[in-house]
Amino acid sequence: MAYLAPSILSADLLKLEEQIKIVEANGADFIHVDVMDGNFVPNITFGPVIVKTLKKITKLPLDVHLMIIHPEKFIEEFAKAGASIITVHQETCPHLDRTIQQIKEFGCKAGVTINPSTPVNNLDLVLSKVDLVLIMSVNPGFGGQKFIPYSLDKIEEIRMKREMEKVDFLIEVDGGVNEQTAQPLAKAGVDVFVAGHAIFGQDDIAQACITIKKLTSSIVREI
Ligand code: DX5
Ligand code: ZN
Repeated sequence: MAYLAPSILSADLLKLEEQIKIVEANGADFIHVDVMDGNFVPNITFGPVIVKTLKKITKLPLDVHLMIIHPEKFIEEFAKAGASIITVHQETCPHLDRTIQQIKEFGCKAGVTINPSTPVNNLDLVLSKVDLVLIMSVNPGFGGQKFIPYSLDKIEEIRMKREMEKVDFLIEVDGGVNEQTAQPLAKAGVDVFVAGHAIFGQDDIAQACITIKKLTSSIVREI
C-alpha cells in the first residue's frame, strides 16, 4: 500500500481549500506541511496557524515536517494545532530520543528525517522508537528541486534495516517525486510519497494525483 502526501508548499494559497478538496478526492492520504525557519533551511514558510486552519478544512492526517532548529520548543504547539505526524530532523536534535518521546506524549506519530548528506546509520538507535523515517531526496528548503539519485540507495538501506531488525515504521520520501522517480522509489521501498510540484504545480491537479498514485501502487516489490 502506497500513501500519497501532497505538499502544500507548492499549492496556491489563495485556493488552498479548493486544492485540498481536489487532492482529497483523488487519492491523497496525508497533507504534508513544510515548516521552515530560515535558519536550518534557507527559507521561511508556515507555522502552527496553518496547521490549525488545515484541520478545519480536511479530515486527512496532517504530516508536519519541521525544518527548524530547536524543534522541541514547538512540538506541543503543532500537536495542539492538529498535527497527526510530526517529523524532526536528526541534524537538529542533540536529544533525539527525548524529542521522539515528547512527540508521542503529545499524542502524535513520531517521524525522524535526515538530509541527503546524512548517513542512514545515524538513525540506528532510534529505529525501534519511531513511526516513520523520512529520507530527504533533495536538500530541504524549496519545492520543485531535482531528485538526488543516491537517495534510492538510502531507501533500500533503511528498508533492509527494517526487515533485519524486525521493526515497524513507514518509509517516506520527500523531494523530486514525479512521474519518472515514483516507480523506482516504490521499488526501493517507499511507503509514503511526498509530492509538491508534481501535484500542485500541474494544470490538472486531480490527474496528477491519480497518475502518481497509480505509479506508486502498482509495484510488486522484489524481496
Ligand atoms: C523540501 C520540502 C518538500 C517539498 C517537496 O524542503 O521538504 O516537502 O515540498 O517539493 P517537491 O515535491 O516539489 O520536490
Ligand atoms: Zn517536506
